[in-house]
Amino acid sequence: MIVPLSLPDIGLRERELINEVLDSNTLSIGPKVMLFERMVAEYLGVREAVAVNSGTSGLHLAVRALGIGGGDEVITSPFSFVASSNCILFERARPVFVDIDPLTLNLDPSEIEAKITSKTRAIIPVHVFGRPADMDNIMDIAKKFGLAVIEDACEAIGAQYHGKMVGSAGNAAVFAFYPNKQITTGEGGVIVTNSNSLAGMCRSMRNQGRSDVSSWFNHCHLGYNYRMDELSAALGVAQMERIDEILARREAVAGAYHARLGMLKGVTIPYPEAGNKMSWFVYVIQLAPGINRDYVMKYLHENEVDSRPYFQPIHLQPFYRDTFGYSEGAYPNTEAAASSTLAIPFFNKLTEQQIDYVVKVLAEAVSRA
Ligand SMILES: Cc1ncc(COP(=O)(O)O)c(C=O)c1O
Repeated sequence: MIVPLSLPDIGLRERELINEVLDSNTLSIGPKVMLFERMVAEYLGVREAVAVNSGTSGLHLAVRALGIGGGDEVITSPFSFVASSNCILFERARPVFVDIDPLTLNLDPSEIEAKITSKTRAIIPVHVFGRPADMDNIMDIAKKFGLAVIEDACEAIGAQYHGKMVGSAGNAAVFAFYPNKQITTGEGGVIVTNSNSLAGMCRSMRNQGRSDVSSWFNHCHLGYNYRMDELSAALGVAQMERIDEILARREAVAGAYHARLGMLKGVTIPYPEAGNKMSWFVYVIQLAPGINRDYVMKYLHENEVDSRPYFQPIHLQPFYRDTFGYSEGAYPNTEAAASSTLAIPFFNKLTEQQIDYVVKVLAEAVSRA
């Protein structure tokens, strides 16, 4: 593939810190995880950060630590990665989907109240593609009905909503660091919160329910092995050291695409953000009705440009159809977005030449589709 969809940005500092861990012989439960947690908490301006081995395990612990369980309902978006809904099912609660705003592709707050019942316990908004969800309205509804809020910020580290870092509004937020994310730890995630007790519960549950590390065979809670290892944390520390530079570079790449694709007929570029700051995770265009997306993808592939439809609606995933009986038409905005979106190559080190090549091949594909 000449131009892959995503690539991590790994430099000498990452290698240096990973070698430091290897030389130390402390490969798990050590200083790098603590340092990474401190760096994330300081960067986001929150009290606590609890590092875990994936965004999914972070979401699971946040749901569980808030006491959400069997019979409860949690409102969330069907236009997301499946983990933002699965984390509710892990605790035998029920995801209740609310459709998205067709422009921002985030949960539409004006649709939330109609879905609240006596069983509703929480809202999980997703900051899709690094675009802040409408947190003021979501938090107002949560306060009015006494609901908890877990921000799925897995795609949004560094995004700002009304001048404040995304991840600081709800009871907890979760970030993820898979290699396609803005910064990576290989596999990894972090739960952030201003609640010491919530953080304490997550720390215990990520470590087999231990009360603390010194009491190795004393398990106070049902727990898991969701620990982040020291090698992953070392990678995370090196990436956090230059997160501003990484995010600025991604913004520049997005700007280069905007300039070249803004006038291309049949292609809609990402909706401009007003008053907020996106953290660019992926670059997702929308194709006009009548353009055959499969053909576009095939043409891109034949010319060695990677692309992917982002996302398939969660309610139409086979497991959700089988379990809950969902079918087409349930969430029209989500389905319309899902059938027209296409993620094109997007990463820090994308060169001007590669951008020009992607745009040329895409323009050819769209004109023929
Ligand atoms: C919106 C969203 N939620 C949750 C996750 C899960 O994160 P992870 O893959 O680290 O488990 C992701 C990651 O792709 C995501 O994009």
